[in-house]
Amino acid sequence: MKYKFHQRDVISILDFERDELEYLFETTDKILDSYIDKKMHLLDGKIIALAFFEPSTRTRLSFEVAAKKLGADVISFTSEESLSISKGENLADTIRMLDNYSDLIVIRHRLEGVAKYAAEIAEKPVINAGDGKQHHPTQAMIDLYTVRKLFGAIDGLTYGILGDLRYGRAATSFIYGLSIFKPKKLYLISPEALRVREEVLELLKNRNIMYEEKYNTEDVIDQLDVLYVTRIQRERFPDPMEYERVKGSYRVTRELVKRGRRELKVLHPLPKVNEIDYSVDASEYAAYYIQAKYGVPIRMSLLILILGGDKL
Ligand code: CP
Repeated sequence: MKYKFHQRDVISILDFERDELEYLFETTDKILDSYIDKKMHLLDGKIIALAFFEPSTRTRLSFEVAAKKLGADVISFTSEESLSISKGENLADTIRMLDNYSDLIVIRHRLEGVAKYAAEIAEKPVINAGDGKQHHPTQAMIDLYTVRKLFGAIDGLTYGILGDLRYGRAATSFIYGLSIFKPKKLYLISPEALRVREEVLELLKNRNIMYEEKYNTEDVIDQLDVLYVTRIQRERFPDPMEYERVKGSYRVTRELVKRGRRELKVLHPLPKVNEIDYSVDASEYAAYYIQAKYGVPIRMSLLILILGGDKL
């Protein structure tokens, strides 16, 4: 196989080259029309471990569906309470056991760097399903794929990325992912307390990606092709009072999006709380439910490429 997916770890979207992502998207295109109705047997006999130390709806369930659609079996847990960690076992030994029992480990943890740590311990491939505020690479793959499906390209578009850019790993990973392509411009829109982190801005500068920080979506809505919205990550605030000060500080309404271009699409990695008005959900602007749906075929493609070689 030309691209190096076989048995690779997936820790950050920044580990990927543009042509590798395009190959993943082309692989996804191949199964998009058929994956719902049929079970493929490309991963018969494989075991996927879903190690979720943090809550999840989409990532865990779509990985589980993806694995099962490919004929693999799944072992999983959804909290530390059910593990021997609650009896004092350390994380490293837990990872060694997952490595013993499975062919691939998908891991989510509240601490930054845990997926990388797991990849250093495990011989089997590790996929980062979210580590603290840092990375969520498969979400970025879904988000980029969604843009490509909606607009035919990722390059040349103007993106508004709104919300918790400080603690939100999906937003950060999306920005990182866009930096692999050639967007026209990124507007990074947030309250002062949720500004994008310095290391992310440094990367954009180094990659010559044009960006501007903004406080209000209203100021730029008429320039956007994509408005990517994220919730405020309450669980990551070190100080609950800090969260109280920013909660409810932005909201996307039908009136707002109607002031945008006719082609404007609103994306959101989900879960959403109250940052998008319900009236937007049923509008032609909302693309977040189809975005979530692409979670299954993108993750199927990734599992095929990592575990199944070029069998497709
Ligand atoms: N987008 C995302 O990571 O959703 P979950 O937290 O439900 O997995």
